[in-house]
Amino acid sequence: MSMKRRVCLITGASAGIGAEFARQYAALGWDLVLTARREDRLQQLASEVNSKHRIEAHVIACDLADPSAPAQLVAELESRGIEVDALVNNAGYGLPGTFFSTRWEEQEAFLQVLLKAPVELTHRLLPGMAARSFGRIINVASLAGYTAGSAGHTLYGPVKAALIKFSESIAAECKALGHQDIRCTALCPGFTWSEFHDVNGTREATKQMPKWMWMQAEPVVAAGIAAVNRGQPVIVPGGVNKLIATLARVLPEPAGRALVSAQSARYRKL
Ligand SMILES: NC(=O)c1ccc[n+]([C@@H]2O[C@H](COP(=O)([O-])OP(=O)(O)OC[C@H]3O[C@@H](n4cnc5c(N)ncnc54)[C@H](OP(=O)(O)O)[C@@H]3O)[C@@H](O)[C@H]2O)c1
Repeated sequence: MSMKRRVCLITGASAGIGAEFARQYAALGWDLVLTARREDRLQQLASEVNSKHRIEAHVIACDLADPSAPAQLVAELESRGIEVDALVNNAGYGLPGTFFSTRWEEQEAFLQVLLKAPVELTHRLLPGMAARSFGRIINVASLAGYTAGSAGHTLYGPVKAALIKFSESIAAECKALGHQDIRCTALCPGFTWSEFHDVNGTREATKQMPKWMWMQAEPVVAAGIAAVNRGQPVIVPGGVNKLIATLARVLPEPAGRALVSAQSARYRKL
């Protein structure tokens, strides 16, 4: 008798942390739905995990900057008869420059990809999870959601802070409503090797950061999956990142702001 495999939908699966989520969920025997804009990359990853783990990886390419994309994605899942058991809201990027120097359309697209899309996908997929009494939602936030705001990449910290609070609220609501096996976690990485700093043009500057500040995607993702399974609403992976998150909470606010401003000036071009 064949058992129905669980299905995990991963946004931003064509690179970095999202591709690593795909590899780890596939290794756990889950089927996947991979989405991002670069379909060729998704197809390549799908073939890799399909043959390595004998699971089924579906590819649905989309641009999450399009406000209609989350609804279209969910409609496509429904038309293919795919029920999503885990949602990894991972797609994201950094928008370089200041609020002054960027066009509104760029800020709007940023909000759409990094905040509205994760919230809408969660809203659209939660009812199915509730009906099946099982769900896992991982929102890839950032350590930047903990630390003070600073000049440049203006909305990055605020959006990641919102994702952390959103995850805590969803986790609390699931508990309050008796959905014991629907869990939601904000995963808050610090500097992680991926294409992130190539895409936002800070690779050269971030090369100056000490090596001990960096993590590979593999332990970051493993920490996220373990945290959501045990029902931990927020996880900061890695000892150094945990220390930074703790400092951000205990330092007096002016000291925290000064520290973040000095550090971010090293790798954020204005
Ligand atoms: N790397 C770090 O140091 C770090 C630290 C903290 C948090 N994070 C967070 O981790 C998440 C993953 O980033 P990463 O480090 O893995 O970066 P990455 O290697 O650049 O991957 C980003 C992914 O997001 C997708 N994406 C970007 N814009 C999109 C759009 N408009 N529509 C659909 N997909 C889109 C990209 O796919 P396509 O280009 O193919 O669309 C890619 O798959 C992000 O939310 C980021 O904020 C990263």
